[in-house]
Amino acid sequence: MNLNSPIAGVAEPMQPFVVNISDKFSRFNQHWSPKIVGEVNDCAVKLVKLKGEFVWHSHEREDEMFLVIKGSLRMLLRDRELVVNEGEFVIIPRGVEHCPVADEEVHVMLFEPAGTLNTGSVTNERTVSEPERI
Ligand code: NI
Repeated sequence: MNLNSPIAGVAEPMQPFVVNISDKFSRFNQHWSPKIVGEVNDCAVKLVKLKGEFVWHSHEREDEMFLVIKGSLRMLLRDRELVVNEGEFVIIPRGVEHCPVADEEVHVMLFEPAGTLNTGSVTNERTVSEPERI
């Protein structure tokens, strides 16, 4: 019997676990298809491979953080462009239109609420409504 078992109906507390980022990235090849690898408070931690140009969009209620693990990401904003290099991150506040561009493949870790749609207020063939957990 597990003496730590929770009261029926109460979620068991998460156990700490180590995630190897490059191992997770080796498990998928699709571009623009975020995978969930963890949660922190109300935020999902997602990994995504980017290549090419995405779509212009914004998120009405969510801020998004892009941490570049590999490569160099160009984040187009309406009035300028930000270059986010390996080891750097950018936070796109809610409501700000943005369009990520990856001239070469870029690996990114995203921090955003679990329900955040990758295409924000735009719905098209690139929208991933229920990201896979890996
Ligand atoms: Ni976005």
